[in-house]
Amino acid sequence: MYHSETSLKPRLQPKDYHSAEVFADERRAIFAESWHPIGVASAIRNSGDYLSADVMGVPILVRNFDGELIALRNVCAHRQCSLVSKAAGKSEKLKCPYHGWEYGADGRTRKIPAATNFPQFDRDEYRLDRFPLEQCGDMLFVKLSAEGPTLQEWLGEYYDSFRGWFSEPDFRIAASRRISYPANWKIPVEASLESYHIPEVHPMTFGEDPGEPGSDHFFTDHGSSFHATLAAPRFIDRALRVWERLLLGFLGIESQGHYRHYHVYPNLFVSYTDSLSLVHFVMPVSPTESVGCAWHFGRAPAKRGWIRKKIAGAWGKFTGGLSFQVLNEDLHIYPKIQSGTVAATKPGLFGRCEERLYSFQDFVYRKMNNVDSVTESAAPELQDQQPASCPSDSECGDD
Ligand code: FES
Ligand SMILES: [Fe+2]
Repeated sequence: MYHSETSLKPRLQPKDYHSAEVFADERRAIFAESWHPIGVASAIRNSGDYLSADVMGVPILVRNFDGELIALRNVCAHRQCSLVSKAAGKSEKLKCPYHGWEYGADGRTRKIPAATNFPQFDRDEYRLDRFPLEQCGDMLFVKLSAEGPTLQEWLGEYYDSFRGWFSEPDFRIAASRRISYPANWKIPVEASLESYHIPEVHPMTFGEDPGEPGSDHFFTDHGSSFHATLAAPRFIDRALRVWERLLLGFLGIESQGHYRHYHVYPNLFVSYTDSLSLVHFVMPVSPTESVGCAWHFGRAPAKRGWIRKKIAGAWGKFTGGLSFQVLNEDLHIYPKIQSGTVAATKPGLFGRCEERLYSFQDFVYRKMNNVDSVTESAAPELQDQQPASCPSDSECGDD
């Protein structure tokens, strides 16, 4: 069921989707203290393993130093050469490829070749910046500032569920991908918040919008969720459901037949069914570009046996391919929306089924205008239609 009884007026203006000034303000007001998923810990389980990624223009490497995972700025303190250039790898030492300076877990230099060239060298002044790094299950998150909430505070009431869905024994990483989105970050975020576009954009994968009878929306202070039962009308969906049930039975897992989709403001999504979980993160790059980072976890068998392990792995790869296909299907629509926001003279309109977009936009509006709570915001529509919160999975009543 939806909460809103009326259509809703958007909280943001067309210029909010392409203005360089608004983008700069968003970096400060929305992203400075939020968490960004950067990879999985299981990919760097041995000392010397590392991964690297650009996080909102900041090059970061996460390295295993004798079992301790540390996030550092991937820029040498000598003359700013990148320390590692691959997205993932292994090295005996963290050593700059230009003049060979070496660094330790604390970001301070270790060996400096021909060190007599640097008399009275201050090791604290020339050290790598370290970033907060925390884990939820297998997923690693970094933050660009020491200020702000812990990861658990940021994920709020979703934290415990996510931890189980991102890690063994129940789930195992199956695939990951980065996709360039030719659009402001809010465009893919908003496309992820409604099922209304499914018949036009995803006819071969999702197929049909479950509509109000098959949808339940829940809202909290820092996110929203959508729960549906997977009773899809198309033959292909029913066939897939039958296969999934059979497979889960073979793996020793009870099938609930639920689909859940969570949004943690501003830009993190988690989808969950009995056999998979998907992390989808929309990273802003410029006023008109963003990157989709996705990690797909497959269900691990509850019973022993190498055949079960193989089949669970193959199913994880197959459903991972489907998840990424769905993300790709949205790609062609983004530039059309982006150009529309430049030409538009006023905002559009949200249908009742798009109320999660309204809630997201109200969050952005409040952050950008320094309004602390929903009740203080100039958002009469949301106050009138404030949906019930969903404090925990068990209390959501998603049956
Ligand atoms: S730039 Fe890294 S050692 Fe010179
Ligand atoms: Fe879509």
